[in-house]
Amino acid sequence: MNPRHIAIIMDGNGRWAKARNKDRTFGHLEGSKNVRRIALAANKMNIEALTLYAFSTENWARPKAEVSYLMKLPKIFLDEYLQELMENNVKIETIGHMEGLPKATIAVFDYAKKQTENNTGLILNFALNYGSKNEIVEAVNLALADGVTNITTTDIESRLMTHHLPAIDLCIRTSGEQRLSNFLLWQLAYSELYFTEAAWPDFDQSELEKAVAWYQGRQRRFGGL
Ligand code: FPP
Repeated sequence: MNPRHIAIIMDGNGRWAKARNKDRTFGHLEGSKNVRRIALAANKMNIEALTLYAFSTENWARPKAEVSYLMKLPKIFLDEYLQELMENNVKIETIGHMEGLPKATIAVFDYAKKQTENNTGLILNFALNYGSKNEIVEAVNLALADGVTNITTTDIESRLMTHHLPAIDLCIRTSGEQRLSNFLLWQLAYSELYFTEAAWPDFDQSELEKAVAWYQGRQRRFGGL
């Protein structure tokens, strides 16, 4: 079976650019082009949701110029590809604290979400200004505010930003690092974790197919035998 929901930590843009004597921002631009390729490929494979770690709450610590470029990238991306994503029935969503982003960045996502809200193909879900520990704490506080006294896992799960999406079957991290970096810690409890040396700009359709084939070879026991 294909995974229903794939999450990706798109790592290695900076190193990819450096290896080509280019600025890190060039790597991010190539990375954003790859978002298009992988989203279209995932859509063709009938994957229901693709959650991409585009900007973490920790990424604010990067040099100002890089942060500023990463905030401009959604507009560059959506100006170029929204039409095509629309034609392919892709639905754009976000998780994370959007209100903490620059107004212009919020506006382009609001527009893209509105345009694609009735699409029924792949949900292309960008995690922006997202941090998982904080998301869990907020879910607990929401449950408390709702008057829940004996909080269960369901109480938390139903208040996570991903509550409406299928469980994540497969999480991919590119570029050789093997850690989760505060990404979907709760949601990845029973996900298969796939690590590849390929940098994100080089992670093409055949790499995605390789990851999915690897996933299909795993035996998922969810704690059972
Ligand atoms: C990690 O690579 C990548 C990021 C922090 C940014 C990811 C963003 C994109 C791929 C573009 C997103 C596109 C849209 C449309 C929002 P790194 O910079 O840490 O690479 P390094 O580890 O080689 O330095």
